[in-house]
Amino acid sequence: MNIVEIKNKIDTQIVGKKILFFEEVHSTNKYLYQLALDRNLDDGTVLISDSQTAGKGRLERSWVSPKGKNLYISILLRPNISPKTVSIFTFLASCALKETFDGYGVGSKIKWPNDILVQSKKISGVLTELKLNKNIVDYLIVGIGVNINMDSDLILNLMPDISYKVTSLSIELDRAVEREEFAAELINNIDKYYIRFIKSGISKILSDWTKLWGAIGSMVEVVDGNNIYKGIAEKVDENGFLYIRKDDGRLEKVITGDFSF
Ligand code: BTN
Repeated sequence: MNIVEIKNKIDTQIVGKKILFFEEVHSTNKYLYQLALDRNLDDGTVLISDSQTAGKGRLERSWVSPKGKNLYISILLRPNISPKTVSIFTFLASCALKETFDGYGVGSKIKWPNDILVQSKKISGVLTELKLNKNIVDYLIVGIGVNINMDSDLILNLMPDISYKVTSLSIELDRAVEREEFAAELINNIDKYYIRFIKSGISKILSDWTKLWGAIGSMVEVVDGNNIYKGIAEKVDENGFLYIRKDDGRLEKVITGDFSF
């Protein structure tokens, strides 16, 4: 990974003014979180690693992170928000990801709460973590994994159980993709949405995300353990919770789960 190339291609106000690069870390989220405990890192600091030995996914899952193939990136942000609304930053990253994928001509879809799918297969995931200081948000770490150049054989080898629902940008485009170019475009887009958040607040990000998500008014289903929620998606609120109107007319709040529509 050539970080100078990324720096040359970005044109941002806040995100990526400083980019830290490592050949290998346990997890870019964990490492950036720890670095920020010791040093006063600026809003928008980015950390990229060429591989992760313990990449983290949501719900204690792991994120498969082979060397030299994909993008593993974490961004430190210092927004002035209530801890309850951190999900908005997962949404912010999803908007930026969707725009970046769309720039490559692959039709991506946002899957609530934190996945990006292409052809119904997972290509990217977002994990947002929070550092509090006396109940106030000290900083957020927005971690993004993007499957860029993994081919089908590698996916099958590394994740045999879920390979049928995983894809990469190179599989979808049928060509290798320059990771630096994708990373730069993503950083530019995250900066754009972050500035929009600073100027217009959470409600603007929520409305952008809701439009790009496209599921409001559709019949949806969410499976959360033994609970299955089915109905019309009515809204997503500032906490990232989904409200589903059930057949019997009741409005049900759904906090997380496996979503389909
Ligand atoms: C998910 O879909 O469950 C979220 C996956 C997030 C993975 C990324 S890779 C870069 C960053 N560092 C981590 O340890 N996790 C995130």
